Amino acid sequence: MCGIVGYVGHQNAVPILVEGLHRLEYRGYDSAGLAVQRKHGIEIHKRQGKVREMEASLPKRFAGVVGVGHTRWATHGAPSDGNAHPQSDTSGRIAVVHNGIIENAHELRAQLEARGVVFASQTDTEVLAQLIAGVETDSLEDAVRSALRAITGTYGIAVMDARHPDQIVVARNGSPVILGIGDKEMFIASDASALVRHTQQAIYLDDGEIAVVEARGFRVTSLDALPSTKQPTTLQLVDDQMSKGSFSHFTMKEIYEQPDAVRGTLRGRLDRRFSTARLDGLNLPARDLLRFRRIKIIGCGSACISGFLGARMIERLSRIPCDAESAAEFRYRNPVIEDDTLYVAVSQSGETFDTLAAVEEIKRKGGAVVGIVNVVGSTIARACGRGVYLHAGPEIAVVSTKTFMSTLVAFVLLALHLGRMKDVSAGAGRRIIDALDQLPDALGSLIANQAQMTDLAKKYAHFANAYFVGRNEGYALAMEGALKLKEVSYLHAEAYPASELKHGPLALISPDTLTVVVIPSDDLFEKNVSTIEEIRARRGPVIALSHTATLPVAVDDVIVVPQLHELLDPLLMLVPLQQFAFRVAIERGCDIDQPRNLAKSVTVE
Ligand code: G6P
Repeated sequence: MCGIVGYVGHQNAVPILVEGLHRLEYRGYDSAGLAVQRKHGIEIHKRQGKVREMEASLPKRFAGVVGVGHTRWATHGAPSDGNAHPQSDTSGRIAVVHNGIIENAHELRAQLEARGVVFASQTDTEVLAQLIAGVETDSLEDAVRSALRAITGTYGIAVMDARHPDQIVVARNGSPVILGIGDKEMFIASDASALVRHTQQAIYLDDGEIAVVEARGFRVTSLDALPSTKQPTTLQLVDDQMSKGSFSHFTMKEIYEQPDAVRGTLRGRLDRRFSTARLDGLNLPARDLLRFRRIKIIGCGSACISGFLGARMIERLSRIPCDAESAAEFRYRNPVIEDDTLYVAVSQSGETFDTLAAVEEIKRKGGAVVGIVNVVGSTIARACGRGVYLHAGPEIAVVSTKTFMSTLVAFVLLALHLGRMKDVSAGAGRRIIDALDQLPDALGSLIANQAQMTDLAKKYAHFANAYFVGRNEGYALAMEGALKLKEVSYLHAEAYPASELKHGPLALISPDTLTVVVIPSDDLFEKNVSTIEEIRARRGPVIALSHTATLPVAVDDVIVVPQLHELLDPLLMLVPLQQFAFRVAIERGCDIDQPRNLAKSVTVE
């Protein structure tokens, strides 16, 4: 969570840091701050609220050629000016920006207080600043190393010291830190998106590494002071992918980008000759893949929901038992790891803490794990070492749209790949490939047709509660529809299996509760019709998401979606659910790209 930026060079750091913070704001946005080296020492400016509010309140002469910045998602201590980063020690000599959580902060704070240190904030980060300031040494690097040895938890940090005005010391354990190499200048960021404007050459720190960064270069060592050799990576991001362009919101831009995101995921992966998918990054030949008797998908948030859908697709085509689970639940139940199970970790950012921890747990117990990840070179991608990159392009809005879509495409490809090794015929495989070929254009037409969603949003935005129901894949899709709506519009939305409605939630159905029913033209169509009858009998308003406008039951509204292939039904039906959530959020005046209390990549437990 949170965003870190830093600069050491010959330019004024302030505009570079502020621009970087704007780019990282999607990672946390309850407060923001900067620290710069000035002649008389370190000067800090920070404030609760968005980056733009901090920027607007900057004193006129706030400038320097060395500085750090931070945009926060609160963990220890509520959002406030005092709890915003940078945090410093009592004398103001040290400034620290930090992502992550120091788990023994309470204990360390008590020890420091017993020695007379008076704290100015409730943050775990101030504990680190006070610890660093308390180390007797002439080297900032040694002081940071020594302080880090005392803490447990996760961090990505950047530290400045008034006694070493030409340096920034950074370190990483569980939260990303990337160095950007410039011409006699160095950039620091927790996410490559804040670097691309300045350089394409980057160094990714690994866990347990510390770097001393100066204008002329950097030196990386381990926590034990052993030197590390680092090779620069060329960043693949393009700067203009990071702007909203003509769209009012990143969320809408990314909904519109879905056809291209899908093209990116499909590129080079459709093998017409054998009517299958080529997934070379899996690095698992057919003989190895066929020995797996089960598949387990893990992820968090929308990534987990995509796993529920992926599991149904894989099981359908390959007949290999497959299920999905929240990565956090999985890792905390001391999971049984079996060597005939293939584990699949899903993560857009490749940095979600619980997913990464689950991957490490699987690896530690000898399990085979592959990743479905968007960000190339991210921690989870590297921890898995093999898998399927989405190539969906950067996703900036906090809620996942195009990467959710691309993940579903990756699952279709994986299902096809496995299915064709087993019982799926070449003809059946070809029909899936043909449908995938048509998918980007079909999505494009659906996305362009927004008028109905605007009308529906106007009609239902005042509701306080909504159910999203469906069966099998329809239920998993209902989960994503409900999650999207609650995240961006704060309208309370809950997903339920349609068959379970009568076992409880029906008690809450009334003219004041909206139900969105996912009712594709599949084997369960009649069952879903009965569900609608049950809701109507309680005078509950119903929106049906369907393949046909003429349902055998009365509903308030029908959203009709075209069909390409049964396997792809959830992908096409997803679009109106995204648009409905977006439009309702507009009606309710919400901050769609940065919903309250949320952040894009959750790098804390
Ligand atoms: C956060 C985001 C979600 C996302 C989830 C997992 O909760 O708000 O949109 O689905 O993290 O993120 P990941 O990067 O691992 O896919």
